[in-house]
Amino acid sequence: RVLAGRPADLAGRRVVVSAGGTREAIDPVRFIGNRSSGLQGYALARTAVARGAEVTLVAANVALPDPAGVRVVRVESALQMRAAVLDALEGADAVVMAAAVADFRPAARNESKIKKTGAEPDPVHLTKNPDILAELGERRRDGLKPYPRVIAGFAAETDDVLANGRAKLARKGCDLLVVNQVGDGLAFGTPDNAATILVAGGEPVEVPRGPKEELADVVWDLVAARLA
Ligand code: CTP
Ligand code: CA
Repeated sequence: RVLAGRPADLAGRRVVVSAGGTREAIDPVRFIGNRSSGLQGYALARTAVARGAEVTLVAANVALPDPAGVRVVRVESALQMRAAVLDALEGADAVVMAAAVADFRPAARNESKIKKTGAEPDPVHLTKNPDILAELGERRRDGLKPYPRVIAGFAAETDDVLANGRAKLARKGCDLLVVNQVGDGLAFGTPDNAATILVAGGEPVEVPRGPKEELADVVWDLVAARLA
């Protein structure tokens, strides 16, 4: 069994993982979304449970069954995810933001379905969503509870992967940033992943292509080390 033989190094720890991709409503039937399947976040939740943690998984629009032993909170939008993450952080030791959170949402949600007319459609005006990961870094910096002791984020990049990742780690004030290169049959919707984990104040850790559980375990190794 894949999950057997793990250290119980997260026993007594409470961790929050976000997974999936948010949907931002345009009208009652349409949304702006993204390609996140939730597989990496679910792998993080399963492996954390296997290592003894108490896990809350904030899941946005995933077609996956609840992992055993995990408290699952289902959300749809970025605003709902922010509220659920802050709620779950009460008493938590670490957070891993694996979810793809929409940067923007429609500025106004149509109460009824937008109908075709003969004319050209109206543009969809967008407004910024809160950056949940950056906010957690700010809360910790300012000592504003609830905030976790260890903060990890993900970044999917297509260009200048490492330079963009380094800048993002600093900008968001997190401890760990898992940088995946998108493409080559990796990242979205696939069972495998490959990544470079950037570590604040440390050397980057390369995780070769392998099951998402393997990447998850390296993340928890680094989280456990920072909590110890
Ligand atoms: N994130 C978040 N809230 C947002 C956007 C992103 O918490 N509104 C988190 C994601 O969960 C991820 C990390 O921030 O852990 C990086 O997301 P990414 O989209 O790569 O970074 P951005 O800062 O949004 O930069 P950009 O999309 O412009 O590359
Ligand atoms: Ca983004």
